[in-house]
Amino acid sequence: MADPAGPDTDSAARARQLQAELDHHSKLYYAGKPEIPDADFDDLFNELKALEEQHPELVHPDSPTQRVGAPPDTAFVPVRHQPPMMSLHNALDVEELRAWHERIGRALAAPPTEQSLPTTGEAAVGDFAVELKFDGLAISIRYEDGVLVRAATRGDGRTGEDVTHSVRTIADVPIRLRGTAPAVLEVRGEVILRLSTFEQLNARQLERGDKPYVNPRNAAAGSLRQKDARVTAARGLSFWCYQLGHASGGPAFTSHLQTLEWLASLGLPTDEHAARLGDLAAVESHVVDFERRRHDLDFEFDGMVVKVDDLATQARLGVDAKAPRWAIAYKFPPEERTTKLLDIHVSIGPSGQATPFARLAPVFVGGVTVGTATLHNEDQVAAKDVRPGDTVIVRRAGEVIPEVVGPVLAERPAGSRPWEFPPDCPVCGETLRRAEGMSATMCVNYWCPRQIRGRIEHFVGRAAMDIEYLGERNIDRFVSEGLLADVVGLYGLDFERIEQMDGFGETSVNNLRKSIEDSLQQPLARLLFALSIPEIGQVNARVLAAAFGDIDGILGADEEALAAVEGFGPIIAASVRAWFDDPHNRKLIEGLRAAGLHMVADEPGAGADGEMLPQTLAGMSVVVSGTLEGFSRDEAKQAIVARGGSAPGSVSGRTTALVAGADPGASKLRKAESAGVPVIDEAAFGELLDTGRLP
Ligand code: IVH
Repeated sequence: MADPAGPDTDSAARARQLQAELDHHSKLYYAGKPEIPDADFDDLFNELKALEEQHPELVHPDSPTQRVGAPPDTAFVPVRHQPPMMSLHNALDVEELRAWHERIGRALAAPPTEQSLPTTGEAAVGDFAVELKFDGLAISIRYEDGVLVRAATRGDGRTGEDVTHSVRTIADVPIRLRGTAPAVLEVRGEVILRLSTFEQLNARQLERGDKPYVNPRNAAAGSLRQKDARVTAARGLSFWCYQLGHASGGPAFTSHLQTLEWLASLGLPTDEHAARLGDLAAVESHVVDFERRRHDLDFEFDGMVVKVDDLATQARLGVDAKAPRWAIAYKFPPEERTTKLLDIHVSIGPSGQATPFARLAPVFVGGVTVGTATLHNEDQVAAKDVRPGDTVIVRRAGEVIPEVVGPVLAERPAGSRPWEFPPDCPVCGETLRRAEGMSATMCVNYWCPRQIRGRIEHFVGRAAMDIEYLGERNIDRFVSEGLLADVVGLYGLDFERIEQMDGFGETSVNNLRKSIEDSLQQPLARLLFALSIPEIGQVNARVLAAAFGDIDGILGADEEALAAVEGFGPIIAASVRAWFDDPHNRKLIEGLRAAGLHMVADEPGAGADGEMLPQTLAGMSVVVSGTLEGFSRDEAKQAIVARGGSAPGSVSGRTTALVAGADPGASKLRKAESAGVPVIDEAAFGELLDTGRLP
């Protein structure tokens, strides 16, 4: 509602500030170098829109609310768009989608001369065309007599930039149309970079010591606006055509989807996901369904575009200053937001690895509130150059862990300095070390309390010695109360004292005692895995056990013999040898032997002589998702392949089983469910590897 008293000075000043900020960010966005995520831009935009609605006299014709995009860059030849390339209004949830539907229903029911007057009746809107909202760059391509003559970016909607030389290099864009092309055809669509191509591009950037691109859209924008078309060609851009701009000499159509079919018949790439839906209820369930499938495709789409399909109805609804009334973008919740990076801390993992992580001002992103995010290692912090006090972009896409993408440099406080890795372990105070050529920084104090607990946690794990009733909390208590100092101590626990502790009773203590006793019989492979030997995951532990038969065989093997083990080589051999030569570890092994552990391999398998593993998975296809305790992703795949199976990256009807570790991919789980593929945990995976049978 307009405020009759007129704007106060604060509102006027705020509006001016917002207009200037939005101008600044639009320019950067269209140059492919945005500083802030879209969602933050939208917040500023919505604030300005609300302010202008309250005080209409603050609206200038060139306010960002009245315009599309940014003025074209003068370095490129300007191209005039006829008709203009418009933007889309957004619906941020289903309610806003319904409000749009009601608006157009009312507009259609009103007498044609007074479209804005509300009436009670609603005229039929007809079918909807629902498409993906591709997250790339809008371009217009002009064909004359079937030959590509010009391509231009959107620019400010009226005038864009000539990027013909770049667009010609995009394999998806035909240089010559198929069939009977009209005299003039101008089409609109989105240039995107597929996720797989984006990952390869960033890997190359890193190899060359160049900064990686923040997201596929920025990379696509940067690639398109290259002066040298050879650079663009090497980037592997893709294109989706979603709209007819203008055709002279072509057939007449009554429906938008028909025009898309015709464009496809001319050889232009249109998206197979475009659907015709009869009513808003169908549209709603369709867009919500795609929101769930957001991460299933090899390119990013940040919403769905709902268009009135009938072209005559589109014409009746018309356009406003910024966007057509006959279409709306249903936007998915943002996966990138900015927030303050309060501080960078280091956490010590169970094996002593020191991992830097960001403490963030809590921010709602990707459907959850995020307060911390890993920064992986020293090099990653340096590459991103994020500093305490920075405003940073935080991303959480799908189910994956939140990530700090990079700083917003324009908002960096004066006098900030690059972050430096702390010299000492925050748990035990010993000096942290980073070995040459390694990315990880380590606390190498064997007696660091975090590592003592970490080794015990790993030792009792399900895929290791499988000792139950001993979670992280109890291990913590036993260690801090002096009941437990290492894994040997498990076999001499003072159960009488434990029974006196809070939360324990006779039954739970008996269960714990039995579980520890049972673990004495675990085969050598499990023990080797349980010992946290660097490079020895579940797979290598099995190979090692099978190669030497018992613990003494390994203790007596020199580096050469270890390197000869199938799949080992010198690095693993050196790591194993070093571990067994460490006096702490020798003592540990003797302690475990004295406790009565069974240190013999159960079954022979792949040996030093290269004997094959039993082909338990021949003909099977096993997909792994999420984090497993006992295998890295590669190890799990190797384990499957070494047993004759295949380990593809996605679930299909032919998949034998999906192994779900911690935080498995939601899309894989859904696919497995719909295709009737069994989902198994890590223990069942171990059994499958051994026996080829599902539990
Ligand atoms: S139709 C006049 N369809 O979204 C209609 N746009 O926020 C204009 N976009 O500038 C666009 N996918 O770059 C349309 N299936 C789709 C789209 C799409 C992505 C982009 C386009 C547009 C922006 C508006």
